Amino acid sequence: MIDLFQIRVPMFSKKPILCGNWKMHKTIPEALEFLSQVPHDKTFYLAVPFTSLYPLAQKIQGSSILLGGQNIYPSAHGPFTGEISAPLLKDAGAHFVILGHSERRTLFQETNAFINQKVKRALTSNLDVIYCLGESLMDREKGNMHEVLEEQLKEGLKDMTTEDFKNIVIAYEPIWAIGTGKTATPQMAQEVHHFLRELIKKEWGSFVSENTPLLYGGSVTPETLPALLQEPDIDGALVGGASLNPESFKALLKALP
Ligand code: PGA
Repeated sequence: MIDLFQIRVPMFSKKPILCGNWKMHKTIPEALEFLSQVPHDKTFYLAVPFTSLYPLAQKIQGSSILLGGQNIYPSAHGPFTGEISAPLLKDAGAHFVILGHSERRTLFQETNAFINQKVKRALTSNLDVIYCLGESLMDREKGNMHEVLEEQLKEGLKDMTTEDFKNIVIAYEPIWAIGTGKTATPQMAQEVHHFLRELIKKEWGSFVSENTPLLYGGSVTPETLPALLQEPDIDGALVGGASLNPESFKALLKALP
């Protein structure tokens, strides 16, 4: 595992993280074609469909690219037809896994407690975790946003230690901004990131708070990324739609300082 604390060096030298989330897109040939068109000497994260993990992992050996999955089941093995486990992802070449994505929370009724079990399993299986949270439009309009975010943070990451946080990235993805073309303004995103950083400080102390990378996600494009990265508490981006096309992905990489 990589010590993620080394990625977010506070103050001037922080290195932003770019993670593509392909969701349920790309056949193996399409995934390999994408890989042939993007640089291999730049560090970025790519969460791909399970079927593409192994073939891509074979191709990126020795490169700076980090592959990941988009889900796991909390158990390591067992009679769970149709599910995938952390050790199996690791075996296929994954370095990390995205957990708590709003599409899993809303479409598959995943609760904070259930996601917490997955986080624990991922870490014990040596997978880094990108833990997603975010409010719905209704939460925001009703004034519940902070409560919802606090619950997602504390329950989803319950029992995490300072050591565990070395392998956790948090991604703030407001549900109303995902796949809708409605990016939160840099100020809106910064406001929530700052709120999250303060919460982390209260719960886990300032060392964890200052060193845990906080990504923004939700309709990020090469055009909107630079302004988001200017904000002091935004350490990178989790990108869905704009990560599918090699040209826009290369433009996202270019937008990194
Ligand atoms: P989007 O997806 O960039 O297409 O909005 C982001 C995500 O769901 O991770």
